[in-house]
Amino acid sequence: MKNYNVTVLAGDGIGPEIMAEAVKVLSYIGEKHDTGFTLTDGLCGGVSIDEHGKPLTDEVLDLALNADAVLLGAVGGPKWEAMDYSIRPERALLALRKELALFANLRPAKIYKPLMNASSLKPEVLEGVDVMVVRELTGGIYFGGPRGVETLADGTKKGTNTLVYTTPEIDRIARAAFEIAMKRGRKLMSIDKANVLECTELWREVVIEVSNDYPDVELLHMYVDNCAMQLIRDPRQFDVIVTGNMFGDILSDEAAMLTGSIGMLASASLGAKGAIEGLNHENGRAMYEPIHGSAPDIAGTGKANPIATILSVAMMLRYSFDMTEAADEIEAAIERVLDKGLRTADIAGEGETAISCTEMGEAVLAELRA
Ligand code: IPM
Ligand code: MG
Repeated sequence: MKNYNVTVLAGDGIGPEIMAEAVKVLSYIGEKHDTGFTLTDGLCGGVSIDEHGKPLTDEVLDLALNADAVLLGAVGGPKWEAMDYSIRPERALLALRKELALFANLRPAKIYKPLMNASSLKPEVLEGVDVMVVRELTGGIYFGGPRGVETLADGTKKGTNTLVYTTPEIDRIARAAFEIAMKRGRKLMSIDKANVLECTELWREVVIEVSNDYPDVELLHMYVDNCAMQLIRDPRQFDVIVTGNMFGDILSDEAAMLTGSIGMLASASLGAKGAIEGLNHENGRAMYEPIHGSAPDIAGTGKANPIATILSVAMMLRYSFDMTEAADEIEAAIERVLDKGLRTADIAGEGETAISCTEMGEAVLAELRA
């Protein structure tokens, strides 16, 4: 029997609640597909600050470095917001991405028909939308230097962050995106601000260079501001989007909201090989997490939606463990649950009763068993 080591970092806020449901699903899949999943829990984010004074300890980082995959809930909350930037919960996330070299962040946004009316856009604009945002995750302005806030001689202050990309960094994320595009609609939209920022002019150049190796993929370019507008105007024109860290952060939230709820969307952050052919870089590390945050306002109320975390488990099975069939089963079970009209509060329409986080997890399990 195969056995995989998974580091489970539930994190803060609703993290533990959504993770509990995802773990149930993963355990069931293990039994059904005769695969062992050895789960090791670790503290990450605010809970780690409370216990150890920092958001990510060396022990937990080590766990993550040595695991076959990491499953993360969410980090952060008002309790830790006033802390110094260098030790805030979010640093844990950024450190994990950097230390595990998870440069390719995949954020799929797909419309579920039964949830169409949960979106703020008209159904005729949304029908059939299926976008994959590929966000560069370990470079760009998030990590570039110089950075920081300094006090000048006259007493005023100066804040600096720096947008940096090297050709190898652009090359590998472009290749990852082309590989993904090959497995989808073979259309890749590269997003930059090449009319203003030299760094993104280089981005465009390198993406074009890489496109020579992928003659079957149609490559298009868009400025980020236009892309923000086009995503709302006509989201169906997009198949795969590839962009840098910061533009990807913003556009993936926008793409997520097309689907009506950020509570539905999963993500994969890949360091290398995985199951995507050609994503063949330094290592096979990966982290899976819902794209939403820790939602401290509803933590402990049972109102959280566990679907994004359960879908993150599906992505983990697909990309890290090559368990396509199991991943399909989970995704199909979720579609059936939605078809039956079961809704958590975030996706319940007017007059629809909402079920709890646990009830949603149980409903998905029941569908899987059926
Ligand atoms: C995300 C989040 C993170 C980011 C934060 C929590 C650091 O917004 O994963 O999109 O900015 O990358
Ligand atoms: Mg974000």
